[in-house]
Amino acid sequence: MAQAQRTPVSATVPNDLEPFWMPFTANRAFKARPRMIARAKDMFYFTPEGRKLLDGSAGLWCTNAGHNRDPIVEAIQAQAAEVDFAPPFQFAHPKAFELAARVAALAPGDLDHVFFCNSGSEAVDTALKIALAYHNVRGNASRVRLIGRERGYHGVGFGGIAVGGIVSNRKQFGALMAGVDHLPSTYNREKQAFTMGEPEWGAHLADELDRLVALHDASTIAAVIVEPISGSTGVLPPPKGYLERLRAICDKHGILLIFDEVITGYGRLGYAFAAERYGVLPDMITFAKGITSGSVPMGGVVVRKGIYDAFMKGPEHVIELFHGYTYSAHPLACAAGLATLDLYRAEGLFERARKLEKPWAEAAMRLKGLPNVLDIRTVGLTAGIDLASKPDGVGKRGYQAMELAFHDYDLMFRGVGDTLALSPPLIVSEDQIGEIFDKTAAIIKAVA
Ligand SMILES: Cc1ncc(COP(=O)(O)O)c(C=O)c1O
Repeated sequence: MAQAQRTPVSATVPNDLEPFWMPFTANRAFKARPRMIARAKDMFYFTPEGRKLLDGSAGLWCTNAGHNRDPIVEAIQAQAAEVDFAPPFQFAHPKAFELAARVAALAPGDLDHVFFCNSGSEAVDTALKIALAYHNVRGNASRVRLIGRERGYHGVGFGGIAVGGIVSNRKQFGALMAGVDHLPSTYNREKQAFTMGEPEWGAHLADELDRLVALHDASTIAAVIVEPISGSTGVLPPPKGYLERLRAICDKHGILLIFDEVITGYGRLGYAFAAERYGVLPDMITFAKGITSGSVPMGGVVVRKGIYDAFMKGPEHVIELFHGYTYSAHPLACAAGLATLDLYRAEGLFERARKLEKPWAEAAMRLKGLPNVLDIRTVGLTAGIDLASKPDGVGKRGYQAMELAFHDYDLMFRGVGDTLALSPPLIVSEDQIGEIFDKTAAIIKAVA
């Protein structure tokens, strides 16, 4: 194989870009023209050269409290000096319990026990395993089937990609897990285009679960997992009444309902969890990202009391759930999580997101009518703007928009194929909302 040409990072970062195989990145395009971030504060990123960019995507849907907030930074620093690591298997440190109690208090109903891990993907695999094990310990070992949804994104573990509905995973990674089926996507452009918030059309799509039950029989189905809003596949809010209907069908058949709230948790939709916004109580909630405002990797699963209790049987010296990660409830993550939850509360950031939802949605909808704009969807502080693909390649216009935003408009957002995904930190001001959409409008025209 020919030796690849090596690209230096920049004059201020004397390094080599080749060895790092970047995740979910067009490596060659990035390395030819890097988008490097050296520093962050509040609503802004800074390049190594000191250029200041407005963050329209909260990093990767995660820095809900804004970047490098002093109380979070200080909590991490103090924790690093106090205890670097405590084994989470058979031992623990106090902040793990404190954080679990705080998360449980934020979660609705009897969602009151928390299992910690380090990412959204791990949270999803954990929830799926808990679902299988729950039925097993209750003597229903035939309930092994898992139901996801088309266009669902549940991270990158084998469980998550199997229940997820992303075509590229199927193309690149083969047969995935057996015993999985999918509900149809709730998105229909013809019926829903340019809706602010939850669309009127589509609640009936939840009834497809009854069809899957008729096909597989309820006695073989362990759980259904959905994102309350699909984020990573382009911001797809649930049709009005859809989640309630899914809950009712799950109840009818003894199927567990898991809400993957890795994006929707911690204020993104104006509430601690989307379950609260929609008034629907799932059996488990997965979370990550916003729990530490992106500062230290952490994820977790909140489960209802009855699930935890089902495991607390048998001899007391025996491990009840054969699952965990070396870095579950890592001290740095717990310290960051506690400081983050304090900040959300002190600054009323969830309520702030709720208040900003309307001006945010109105600003987004002003882009209707610009060239190639096929649909705009908003819910909470998120927006998805679908652009028509270029004739010479799906995803090219979206990529160009994202690149142009970074290099020429000092703005960061995500390009998901030809959809622009926006989700600013919850500290965003109304002026900054205006700036985000003014710049996005100019970028859309520039890539027309
Ligand atoms: C709904 C959902 N689940 C799971 C994940 C995976 O999280 P992570 O990248 O932390 O593994 C994501 C990531 O965006 C997500 O949006």
